[in-house]
Amino acid sequence: MIMDNEKLLELAHKAAKNSYSPYSGFSVGAAVLCDDGSVYLGCNVENVSFSATNCAERTAMFSAVADGKRKFKKIAIAAHRKDGQVIFTPPCGVCRQVLCEFCSADFVVIMTDGKNIIEKTLGELMPLSFNEF
Ligand code: THU
Repeated sequence: MIMDNEKLLELAHKAAKNSYSPYSGFSVGAAVLCDDGSVYLGCNVENVSFSATNCAERTAMFSAVADGKRKFKKIAIAAHRKDGQVIFTPPCGVCRQVLCEFCSADFVVIMTDGKNIIEKTLGELMPLSFNEF
């Protein structure tokens, strides 16, 4: 199946439905496309400690990695505020670092406000990333 950006975003919206976000009320979903065509979904999972919260992007990535996937093409992110508004949500710094662990600079990050789609490469979002020591 051809996985276009709209379809991947639709899956990210679907993933957001499972968001566990009693503290922020911000429901985020992510869908990551692997190079073999498989897709893994993730949502944000909050915690009363706040710091133990996992973002949707990391949930999706960790789920894919736990299933043996190591090569990725793109990720779509869909985020709904408490009032239902969909807002452009770029990955946080921690998620960018996790994406850099597995994805190259041409990996694509797709975001939406419900109408428009913004596409950025990981290289654009995370220039000069820390990736070796
Ligand atoms: N969040 C994500 O899941 N992904 C992002 O890209 C930004 C933030 C979540 C974490 C937390 O549950 C809520 O949104 C508010 O920060």
